[in-house]
Formats: sequence, structure tokens, C-alpha cells
Amino acid sequence: MEWKHRHVLDLDTWERPDLQHILEQARSMDELLDRPIKKVPALRGKLVVNLFFEASTRTRVSFELAEKFLSADVVNWSASGSSTGKGETLRDTAWTLEAMGADAVVIRHGAVGAADYLARKLKKSVVFNGGDGAHSHPTQALLDLYTAWKKIGPLEGKKVAMIGDVLHSRVARSDIIAFSKMGSSVVLSGPATLMPRSVEALGATYDENPRSAVRDADIIYLLRIQKERQDEGMFPSLDEYHQLFGFDAALLKHARPDALVMHPGPINRGVEIASDVADGSQSMILGQVRSGVAIRMALLFVYLGGVRQ
Ligand code: CP
Repeated sequence: MEWKHRHVLDLDTWERPDLQHILEQARSMDELLDRPIKKVPALRGKLVVNLFFEASTRTRVSFELAEKFLSADVVNWSASGSSTGKGETLRDTAWTLEAMGADAVVIRHGAVGAADYLARKLKKSVVFNGGDGAHSHPTQALLDLYTAWKKIGPLEGKKVAMIGDVLHSRVARSDIIAFSKMGSSVVLSGPATLMPRSVEALGATYDENPRSAVRDADIIYLLRIQKERQDEGMFPSLDEYHQLFGFDAALLKHARPDALVMHPGPINRGVEIASDVADGSQSMILGQVRSGVAIRMALLFVYLGGVRQ
């Protein structure tokens, strides 16, 4: 297939064959992860800069591992200790790194549109969005699709119940788009104060009652309650949130015994998810982490490996 996307900024313009192609590529990369020696020379001589303005464990480490497994040269840049502290702009930082030969830049930034801005300013580097504000987290959505697809096969006709803070979640937005494009239906649940104004415009439906939302769901996707939003009075307390919407063994009984339980991490144990569910047999959380490496390898290979098909 002809690969028409120049960067990975969001999934809005991706079509199902694009998503499917990356899933297939990720499956090949996943096989590499089981080998005693995981390194292949696919990206030898390519330079990737990881530009993280916000905290991250999974995205940052999995991109770095993916780059190293594909033999790229890797530079990990972080805002602390950089010339950002002296007032250097994002554009000048990016131009500086591109002048040093960066073939790709992975960026996580708190500002909506930061990855898109970088893509417009850079002349040759490929930009991978590792999360921009509450807008988009496309590689997370791809790894979530891959995790589900690997476990249950084609996602057409599947039901995803997504519970939690949709309003502030870049993961929610990207996942709703990605699962919908694969033919799944998405029902959102959680306090109405944590829902976007127009759920339907996102391609989802809303059911305030989590018990009915999870019924018949193939995938139950829990979102992190952003404790930093507590001051905004979106719900009375974390305890009350857990009582009403926290996914625990009692709520799990309303779901199918084979439903997949997913969460992008980091998890708040005892808030949006109870430990017995997070660590239980239906949990895919650590599988998602592994998928993160395979998906990022697939993306790096498709965009930098020179074989765009
Ligand atoms: N899911 C996710 O983006 O996790 P990190 O913030 O640890 O990268």
C-alpha cells in the first residue's frame, strides 16, 4: 500500500487500511521481542531524538527501546537541564536538533497542537506525537488496538466500554477515533462532569451507569482519574468516585467473563481500578505495555525504514 502520512500527529485522517497495516507490522515486531537477541539493523544510521516536556514512563521508555531494538542512534532530551530553561523556544530547540541530523523527533508536550506545530516547522524530520495536552495520543491508541486485535481478532462489531475522565483524556479521544474506525462501537461512562459536551460528535454514546455500560462489552477501557483536576470540583471525592465508578470485583460481575480490561497507565489503584481487577486474569495492562514497544517499532520502521508499504 502507498503510505500517505508524513508524520504521526493524530489518527483523524487515518483510514482502516492504514490502521490495519500498522497492526500487521506490529505483529512482526512483536515476534522479534520473543527472540533472545532482539536487535535488528533496520534503522542503522538513523537518528531519533526523544523530546519530552512532560513526565512519561511507558511512552518514553518504549520509544527508546523500539529505537534501540531497530539499531537507531538515540538522543533523550528532557526540558530540565536544557536551554529551554534559558528561554529557548520549542521551534529553536527543534531546529537545533534537526541541524544536528535528527531523522525523527518524538515529542510529548502539555500544549495542544505542539506536535503539529513542530511538524510544520521541521523540514525533514518525521514527528511522532507522544501526547499533546488533552488532544491526542495516537501511538497509545494504536497499541490499544493492537493489544485487543492480537487477543480477540477483528474489531469490527466489538463493543468498547470506556469509563472515567474522558473530558481531559487525550487517550480517550484517540482511542474512540481508532476503535470506531476499526468498526467497534464505543460507549462512555463516568460522571457527566467528566464527559465532553458532544459525545456523539466523537462517534460514541453515553451511559452514566457503569453496570449497564460494561454489560456485553468485549473491552472495558478504564481511564486515569487525573488527581490534579480534583481542585476543579468535577466530582466530590476520590473515594466517592471509586464507590460509583471504580472498577472492582463487584462491577466486574456485570461484565462478560472474557471481557478484556484495559488501562493506558499509570493506574490509580483504588480509584478508577481496584487492585484485584488490575492484577486479575482479565487485565491486559501489562500486555498493553509490551504492545507499546511493538507498535512503536512498527511505526519507526514504516516511517524511517525506507519501505513504506
Ligand atoms: N500511557 C502513557 O502514555 O503512559 P506514560 O505517561 O507513562 O507515557
